[in-house]
Amino acid sequence: MAVWTVYLSLCLLIPLSASALDPEKDSTVNLEARSLHLDCYPEAGSDQAKCEARGCIWEPSSVPNAPWCYYPETHGYVTTNVVETASGITVDIERNTAFPIQRSQSRDVNKLRVEITFLSGKSLRWKIFDPANARFEVPVPLELPATPETEENNRLYRVQIQDMPFGIQVIRKSSEEIIWDSAVPGFTFSDQFLQISTRLPSNYVYGVGETEHPVYSHDLNFHTYGLFAKDQPPGYKLNNYGVHPFHMGLEKSKNAHGVLLLNSNAMDVTFVPSPALTYRTIGGILDFYMVMGPTPEAVVQQYTEMIGRPVLPAYWSLGFQLCRYGYSNDAEIANLYNDMKAAKIPYDVQYADIDYMERQMDFTLDKQNFNGLPALVDNMRAEGMRFIFILDPAIAANETKGSYPAFDTGIEKDVFIKWPPQLSDDIVWGKVWPDYPNVEVDNSLDWDTQVKLFRAFVAFPDFFKNSTAEWWAGQIRDYYNNVMKFDGLWIDMNEPASFVHGTVGEKCLGDQTLENPPYMPPLESSYRGLNHKTMCMNSEQILDDGTRVKHYDVHNLYGWSHTKPTYDALLSTTGKRGVVITRSTYPSSGRWAGHWLGDNYSRWDQLLKSIIGMMEFSIFGIPYTGADICGFFNHAEYEMCLRWMQLGAFYPFSRNHNTINMPRQDPVAWGEEFAAVSRDVLNIRYTLLPYLNTLMYEAHAHGNTVVRPLLHEFVTDENTWKIDRQFLWGPALLITPALDPGVTVVRGYVPDARWYDYHTGQAVGVRGQFVDMDTPLWKINLHVRGGHILPWQKAESNTYYSRQNPLGLLVALDDGGLAHGSLFWDDGEGIDTVQNKRFLLTTFTASSGVLTSAVPTDGLAEADRLTLGQVKVWGVTAPVTRVTLSVTGQPDADLPFTYNAEIQELQFDATSHSHTIEKPFTITWI
Ligand code: GLC
Repeated sequence: MAVWTVYLSLCLLIPLSASALDPEKDSTVNLEARSLHLDCYPEAGSDQAKCEARGCIWEPSSVPNAPWCYYPETHGYVTTNVVETASGITVDIERNTAFPIQRSQSRDVNKLRVEITFLSGKSLRWKIFDPANARFEVPVPLELPATPETEENNRLYRVQIQDMPFGIQVIRKSSEEIIWDSAVPGFTFSDQFLQISTRLPSNYVYGVGETEHPVYSHDLNFHTYGLFAKDQPPGYKLNNYGVHPFHMGLEKSKNAHGVLLLNSNAMDVTFVPSPALTYRTIGGILDFYMVMGPTPEAVVQQYTEMIGRPVLPAYWSLGFQLCRYGYSNDAEIANLYNDMKAAKIPYDVQYADIDYMERQMDFTLDKQNFNGLPALVDNMRAEGMRFIFILDPAIAANETKGSYPAFDTGIEKDVFIKWPPQLSDDIVWGKVWPDYPNVEVDNSLDWDTQVKLFRAFVAFPDFFKNSTAEWWAGQIRDYYNNVMKFDGLWIDMNEPASFVHGTVGEKCLGDQTLENPPYMPPLESSYRGLNHKTMCMNSEQILDDGTRVKHYDVHNLYGWSHTKPTYDALLSTTGKRGVVITRSTYPSSGRWAGHWLGDNYSRWDQLLKSIIGMMEFSIFGIPYTGADICGFFNHAEYEMCLRWMQLGAFYPFSRNHNTINMPRQDPVAWGEEFAAVSRDVLNIRYTLLPYLNTLMYEAHAHGNTVVRPLLHEFVTDENTWKIDRQFLWGPALLITPALDPGVTVVRGYVPDARWYDYHTGQAVGVRGQFVDMDTPLWKINLHVRGGHILPWQKAESNTYYSRQNPLGLLVALDDGGLAHGSLFWDDGEGIDTVQNKRFLLTTFTASSGVLTSAVPTDGLAEADRLTLGQVKVWGVTAPVTRVTLSVTGQPDADLPFTYNAEIQELQFDATSHSHTIEKPFTITWI
């Protein structure tokens, strides 16, 4: 095997002689490439003739889904020049022209440059591009280290260049494992088809989205996932709303790394059992970023350091939320609120979906049915509740001219997406929600006819332009000031979704290879072209530096570009940080918004899939996530909805939502028992909100995950690598929901640690084993990990009230009698409280009968201070005779306590001392 070691600067031209192409005769051929049969004909309709016309090998296989047409080992590029400096390696490569071009409409780029940058000791980048012609590059700014790591010894990795076929190998120095190895056949770089494969260091790969996955740890048996933002409900192998070409991989050494392909064109990712994966994209360049971990948590920390740390949502947004599409009027919402209050079910946020608008037009109010909404919002907000409204990006057009400020000012400011000027100066019209005025929609007609007859034109704002962001902010501000108040915004349909394909009339102007590219990834309805249910790919967008780009290249960034302007507008309008929820996301969207998992179904399988989806968004750097509780489409059924309320009580974004014309599924729609179970589980959520909020802070400040796969905490235990029916909140709360009908027992893994049953405080007798846990209908299994201290507060009807309660602590001692934890606390909704240090960070440590606190950051305003309340300590083995609170400068005080020898639980209460926790304290029990 020929290796270009990075220690040498070589300049060599490899002649493409016949012998160079024959692995038997030429020692420069990478023989390892041979065992990999990578698909040379991923399109449908492969046969021997077509396969061989590509210079590939046809060999029928009995292995299900294995490719019958695969690349010969020398297919690809060859290295012609390597230059290494202290900060990276530059490689020139040339296409091995012995092979025919693969797709006649997509011109091959024969000479390429590869730039490898040692970004830091734990991260690197390799960028493969055409040095002669600039191509589209993703305009998402990453936060990269200012200077590369030039000291070899400080790098966790080493890079080797293979020459034939060209490939990059990244080696983890500590284990000598090759964790990226693209020295395999099939590398292709043409105008509209770019392909690269790599071997994987293990069979454990996570992520790549947004598509629904039936398991969290990928099935590598020849599965391909198309990635392209689409208004497509989650379904088997269907590309849906967002795009995240990021995965985390485990290695045999139990280390973890992460890889991002920063490319925003339509693409697909194929997993094969070798193990290996292949990326195929239809534009841009190949721009890879790798983070070296070595732990799964470190991977997410390093990834979010690069793409931007997740936003800190307002405290109230951690409360329970209610929504539906199809509220018929404001009275319906008022009644729901009253019923929830009467049932004493905690809840913080009420939504209004597009129903509140006049003809579903943004920034309007349906005066007939929702005239009372502004007053209702005011009343509910006065009781500590919050309101979130939906906004769609598409703006109702033509017939509104002169009467609809959102459209009129948009035209004035030229915010809408148009054709390239050489083709037309018109807007690329679509159709989304709004109906024409004064029409009676005939629901008996098929959908396309209804759209044609009854839907109004819309224009899509180009959110890349600063002027669009200003216009959008202006609309939001005017609505808040003139129509009604809100606390957060929900942005939807921003793939962008359209109900016509491409444009009204469905004829996209210009280059048709953009609409139907020479290689079409396997996308939902791909046979109908890329513009199916969205706008024409040849539409023109303008970046804020004036660069004109094709929608083809930036389609997957539409939702991303919509998010920051919405978040900024929310903050500048309300003066509070609130929260934004967005449907379409791309790496770094988490900096401004959370994400719900879209239009799911009221079906049992969706409970498990929601856990997988949340864990994936955890590693994508969007921790504020959850699915529509009880499902969006179809009728929810009692038991499923009840189990879903229990699971959903542990979604960071916990919202029950469903679609129009479906029966109610909110917690007060099902009778007493359902309401009681919902109340109980939401009371647990509310009790633990100080812990959840602290996790959100840790995600924001350090990039930790909130919904955490078990393998992030127990990576040395391979049993955890495939677990997706359970998840953790941070390091310390294990959630084992019931996910199937009729069950009264659920099988769950108890990782190797001491655990306590949250409901009883009883220590669990086993560890490192799968066990059966009782799960009667009223109960979700929750376990607290020994060694951790969880802050809590007594639940109330909403967080406005619960935030005022004294702070409790749940101290779960480990085998050695130790525990630690922390609390992040701020005013709950101020802007930039972390950056400006307007918060309190308290750490707690318990050891040998002493609980102490320390206060690394004390920037809290007087009004937001918290007093210490009740403390529970689990795992106290000996009876206690006295508990004392000591605070510097004050006499020691005895605290009332109880000790339960059976469950080894000590409880004491400091409430009467009004001790505010920004002052360190020590509590001793003997
Ligand atoms: C989309 C959203 C859904 C919303 C509906 C109406 O389908 O995904 O949540 O209720 O539009 O606005």
